[in-house]
Amino acid sequence: MAGQIPQRFIDDLLARIDVVEVVGERVKLKKAGRNHSGLCPFHQEKSPSFTVSADKQFYHCFGCGAHGNALRFLMEYDKLRFPEAVEQLAARLGMEVPREGDDDPRALAREKKRKEGVNLLELAAAFFRERLKMPEGQGARDYLERRGLSPEVVRDYGIGYAPADWEALRHHLVERGIGEAVQVEYGLLVQREESGRTYDRFRDRVMFPIRDPRGRTIAFGGRVLGDAKPKYLNSPETPVFHKGRELYGLYEARQAEVRLERVVIVEGYMDVVALAQFGIRNAVATLGTSTSEEHLSRLFRLVGEVVFCFDGDRAGRQAATRALQTVLPLMIDGRQARFLFLPEGEDPDSLVRREGPEAFQDRITCASPLSEFLFEQAAQGRDLERIEERERYASQVLAAIGRLPEGVLKSLLLTELSRRTGVDQSSFAALMAKKSGTATEVSKAPTMAPETPVAAPSGRKADGATLGLMARALQLLVHEPALVARLPERDDWCDPEDPDGRLCREVVRLLKAGGYRSAQVLLAHFHGTPEGERLAVLARREPLVPRGLRGAELDNWVAYFQRHRQQPSRQEEIDALLAKQAGGERLTSEERRQLMALLAEVGK
Ligand code: UTP
Ligand code: MN
Repeated sequence: MAGQIPQRFIDDLLARIDVVEVVGERVKLKKAGRNHSGLCPFHQEKSPSFTVSADKQFYHCFGCGAHGNALRFLMEYDKLRFPEAVEQLAARLGMEVPREGDDDPRALAREKKRKEGVNLLELAAAFFRERLKMPEGQGARDYLERRGLSPEVVRDYGIGYAPADWEALRHHLVERGIGEAVQVEYGLLVQREESGRTYDRFRDRVMFPIRDPRGRTIAFGGRVLGDAKPKYLNSPETPVFHKGRELYGLYEARQAEVRLERVVIVEGYMDVVALAQFGIRNAVATLGTSTSEEHLSRLFRLVGEVVFCFDGDRAGRQAATRALQTVLPLMIDGRQARFLFLPEGEDPDSLVRREGPEAFQDRITCASPLSEFLFEQAAQGRDLERIEERERYASQVLAAIGRLPEGVLKSLLLTELSRRTGVDQSSFAALMAKKSGTATEVSKAPTMAPETPVAAPSGRKADGATLGLMARALQLLVHEPALVARLPERDDWCDPEDPDGRLCREVVRLLKAGGYRSAQVLLAHFHGTPEGERLAVLARREPLVPRGLRGAELDNWVAYFQRHRQQPSRQEEIDALLAKQAGGERLTSEERRQLMALLAEVGK
């Protein structure tokens, strides 16, 4: 262990730092009286219960109880260890962290190595910037100029040039006392397997440093000057770089605008810098991956709105569908997401040059809000004049709505869905409640004991929620498609108000038509749709009913469904009583008697 940090120093540090500033860089805060408040970053919430006090220099969440000072916040939020958090706060103030008796050689060596890693990437970035200015950088300078980039943007984004040389960077760094091994570890050198010899990874490329939100260079992307392949070369994963997490341009966007409200997510490095060139300085790019939940939660800590930018082609549409799924669970109140589709064959870089920044800003302003995109996407390829199609449309939208956290957006969307389909909203709410698996639906089976979720035989985790009865019938059919033979002629036993019921009807129809005899083929039929996902979930869960009894059980259920459809009121009474019991309340003896009578009657 390196020596302890003296308490005196920590006290001094805390006296100088402002917790509101530290928290405010990571959580959107509003001034509320003497304090600041915002949404707690340590638990999911829709109304702010997180406060930061400038007077007392601490934060406190009334929702989850998280509290502490600036150091504690950095440790929790940035997942830093104590000494790292101290280092970070000290660095902001330009202070050196002293140690008591710096004497353990191993700890010193470790610390030295870590610093070397960070330091080395900064040195490399400086090296590339220098080389761009030298005579050998002429070609790269010409290239950047042809792409319309001014020296200011090149400076702001720290763009540089890696010379066409196999060992220029290595020599440069070795001269400064940095070993080859660490250069390999941080992705600057490539090591040949056979000979163990090393060479510069980036050669004759325009270099884009990728910086973390605090501005430290953590990786590079390098573009060829011509048409060679690969067009872009990125740093590999290293101890400080994980590409599914980082966003190119985020640091620069925050530098450009103190109160960043909105971020535009584009695809490429060049898109980010070209937009910046035209004064649109809030674009960020994922690094050749699709937008991850981690990207988005990081962004939503900083801004209230993200705008996804996609190509207008099929691939772009698919990427948008993925982005929608990723963003849904994060849409707590106060956040916004919008979807911008560019004309085919254009990217933000080409478009902003052709149309100018105002037109591009207009496109951003007019981009579809999440709600609109959600409906539009569910309607795609469907003939909504047909009832069946309209049902699938509604259930697709409902599935998406089900992924949203509770809040205003969710209820607005339910209202809108009702308006668009002409189906009463009260039945949607019921459907959604049903889907989340409440105790009442378990009780609907007169012949079954309440089911607890079982682990799938493959050892995969069980899917949590208890299945409704319709889902269980569906589950039996997925596991034993041959059972379809014993089902009645008419399919009116399938509950049309339950998405599982509608899916069940569809599955029965397909099975009866004879083309689908195995679960695999069924799953393939629905692949890529919400229904397909539902079936896959059911296929993974082994039914509790043993094999030989499944046919008889299904018969019972169908008979039950048929009766049940004529006696909704009785069933509701039963449900209410069972819910009461499941909620932990004792039933009175009168209620118990009533329940028995009702069950007996329904079971007849
Ligand atoms: P694009 O091919 O759209 O690049 O790839 P671009 O940004 O428009 O570049 P220019 O305009 O041709 O210079 C989008 C992103 O995909 C990743 C990069 O992150 C790039 O910015 N990519 C692309 C790679 O990592 N490697 C490649 O070979 C190509
Ligand atoms: Mn491009």
